Amino acid sequence: MDAELLLAHVLGVTRTALLTRDAVDDGAAARFADLVEQRAGRVPLQHLTGRAPFRHLELAVGPGVFVPRPETEQLAGWALQRLAGCTAPVVVDLGTGSGALALAIAQEYPGARVTAVERDPVAVEWTRANAASRAAAGDTPVTVVEGDMTDPALLRELDGAVDLVVSNPPYVPEGARLPREVADHDPPLALWGGPDGLDVVRGLLRTAARLLHPGGALGIEHADQQGTALPALVRAHGGWTGVEDHPDLAGRPRFTTAVRGS
Ligand SMILES: C[S@@+](CC[C@H](N)C(=O)[O-])C[C@H]1O[C@@H](n2cnc3c(N)ncnc32)[C@H](O)[C@@H]1O
Repeated sequence: MDAELLLAHVLGVTRTALLTRDAVDDGAAARFADLVEQRAGRVPLQHLTGRAPFRHLELAVGPGVFVPRPETEQLAGWALQRLAGCTAPVVVDLGTGSGALALAIAQEYPGARVTAVERDPVAVEWTRANAASRAAAGDTPVTVVEGDMTDPALLRELDGAVDLVVSNPPYVPEGARLPREVADHDPPLALWGGPDGLDVVRGLLRTAARLLHPGGALGIEHADQQGTALPALVRAHGGWTGVEDHPDLAGRPRFTTAVRGS
């Protein structure tokens, strides 16, 4: 499939359109061979095409930004269901990377007022580029903030005013073995979460508790192995109700949700 997607990329056609092609010219064949060699060297497909699909979006990605994953689309789906019926809800995406969650919510819930926070100065340039291109395409503009989701001063002006916080934070436990595509190409700040993978989440929880109004909701993606630990961490933090964990389409524990108590 990767080979087909790379050839489609070189030819500037869809993968399905390859079925109607009998031959490619020498220049395209040479570019294709080069990309296949890079992919065999475990450069991510999305870095070679420069694009990553996410729900109805196609985001620009490359070195310096985390490649959004299909699993995260479900967290976006949960967020949209949660927003249903809210007028002009205030939404914050903590650790936005390419802007995947924030931009999908802004596109699919046009009344939402979405703020996307990213700490990495290189990644935030990708966020800004994707946000600008979506706004130019007519989606509701998203506010991009360079900041640390664990900073007690972050978005102080939104304290108690937020309806929904979503985050796919860095959650890989120290020492975990990762595929080369991830270890060599996703930025370290996007991956590593300390000894149990939950270091950044601890700070995120404090920030979300401060930002959300009573009844506001939180959704946090986590690693397969954190389906018990993360809900337990949220319960232990206190002030949350309805703490639940949700599986992804493969049935693996994937994200935890909770509601801010009064
Ligand atoms: C796993 S990536 C997820 C990116 C994006 N939300 C997605 O789902 O594709 C985590 C992101 O959080 C950012 N990040 C890490 N620590 C952060 C912090 N303390 N404050 C804000 N962003 C942070 C990383 O730079 C990275 O872009």
